[in-house]
Amino acid sequence: MTFIQEIERRRTFAVIAHPDAGKTTLTEKLLLFGGAIHVAGAVKSNKIRKSAMSDFMEIERQRGISVSTSVMTFEYRDRKINILDTPGHEDFAEDTYRTLTAVDSVIIVIDGAKGVELQTRRLMEVCRMRNTPVIVFVNKLDREAKDPFDLIDEIEKELNINVVPLSWPIGAGSSFKGVYNRFEKKLQLFSSTDKQKLTEDILEIIDLESLEAQTALGESSTVKLKDDLELIETVYSEFDKAEYDAGKLAPIFFGSAVNNFGVQELLNCFVEIAPYPQKSVTDLREISPFDPKLTGFVFKIHANLDPNHRDRIAFLKICSGIFERNKPYFHVASGKQMRFSSPNTFLADKKSVVDESFPGDIVGLHDTGNFKIGDTLTEGEILNFKGIPSFSPELFRYIENADPMKSKQLAKGIDQLMDEGVAQLFTLKINGRKIIGCVGMLQFDVIQYRLEHEYGAKCKYESVNLYKACWFESEDKSQTDDFMTRKYNNIALDKYGRNVYLADSAYSLKMAEDKFDKIKFHFTSEFHLNAK
Ligand code: G4P
Repeated sequence: MTFIQEIERRRTFAVIAHPDAGKTTLTEKLLLFGGAIHVAGAVKSNKIRKSAMSDFMEIERQRGISVSTSVMTFEYRDRKINILDTPGHEDFAEDTYRTLTAVDSVIIVIDGAKGVELQTRRLMEVCRMRNTPVIVFVNKLDREAKDPFDLIDEIEKELNINVVPLSWPIGAGSSFKGVYNRFEKKLQLFSSTDKQKLTEDILEIIDLESLEAQTALGESSTVKLKDDLELIETVYSEFDKAEYDAGKLAPIFFGSAVNNFGVQELLNCFVEIAPYPQKSVTDLREISPFDPKLTGFVFKIHANLDPNHRDRIAFLKICSGIFERNKPYFHVASGKQMRFSSPNTFLADKKSVVDESFPGDIVGLHDTGNFKIGDTLTEGEILNFKGIPSFSPELFRYIENADPMKSKQLAKGIDQLMDEGVAQLFTLKINGRKIIGCVGMLQFDVIQYRLEHEYGAKCKYESVNLYKACWFESEDKSQTDDFMTRKYNNIALDKYGRNVYLADSAYSLKMAEDKFDKIKFHFTSEFHLNAK
């Protein structure tokens, strides 16, 4: 296979959802269809996560075991598919957001009864920043669900994207009869199947007018379906691939992941329309995946908390060229050459050493502390990828030294953990107090534990009432000066010395935005570009 063919057959994406919508179940079914696993339950059980909410070590242990599920790779219809995991329960963190900077498209899972929920909205905001193409899967149709027209209105409004239903449900819950697949123009009838296996007892009917269809659906459902389809045709435009590629139009599918219903149709459509690796932007030039020289960036660092295996894995997204085992690459941040004797790829539940990887692939590099989030590997060029920002944390605490003899260790530990992207550090200008900002609650415990076990330092937290951290910019110096003076108590410096406004409530942020109308407030920042 040629280099170009290798790239064009790759599909790198993430499944995103609010917890419990069915992300794990859908991912698992996709892997089953791809033949990567053979029984359901092989990927991971997030039950452990759910039941051990307070016990972060248990969750970390689970994470350690499931590091290989960070990326799951399988082949389907000659495509090589890489699914990137987006942790969503207690281990929700900035990592979850940043993973979305490494994908070429996403599938969003929505619970048909609950509609669009908070975490989905947040993750979608990150997709919008990069105009990532989106397919929506409305799940759990075997249970009572919202009216499908209401649901797609909600999706359109809440996710701020145009939609086109490519399948359409017939009933829901106890009266769920199946879906009409508008993409393949056939009717698929639902019957409860053996959940552990892939079964083919989904009855497919091509002609809606046929006696078979009428008999299977009954008269009233057939009439309703025809009416619905007519309405859809008049209200929604046709599927337009260019609009989808631009992240402006989201095809919607309906189904029930746990029952394998609608999953294969989703996958068939996905492999047909989802984009292969696209261009990336750097501070030097635009990078085409077809460029022969290797470039890639680190979007996630996984540190193992088990004291017996204190290894780290840096996840590198390959953006161009071929990544070869044992070949020296240039680490732009340190200016050093590095070679990797055992880069890993991931296959469902195992990882294996790989000799060659292509754009779109993710390789896991064993790391002894050299990598930071956003670091670039090249064949000598000095460049940094754009679009790997920090995201505004929503949980804040003062961090204090609990052992004055170990202040150096504490400073070093905090510095390194921030480089890994575990959380963000802000230093208040007014008094120099340090504040840790996280996206998920668990991170506070992780930081405390790691500072003690890896750096021999002790920290304690104190609560602080803050809502969001915003980076800001303006061309109007006098308004900026005025803002800085008035809000001095809430201005801090981030790790790179940039000014950040720590708003203490949604109200004060809104007031600041109204009053200082020449200032732009940002909820994300480029991660490291301005730092160097
Ligand atoms: P998540 O990763 O998005 O958090 O969700 P996950 O797949 O773990 O699914 C959450 C729950 O929803 C699970 O039930 C799962 O079985 C169920 N589920 C997923 N898809 C469907 C569906 O199409 N229909 C119905 N009715 N349920 C679905 P659980 O009780 O938490 O676990 P389990 O005992 O079923 O494994």
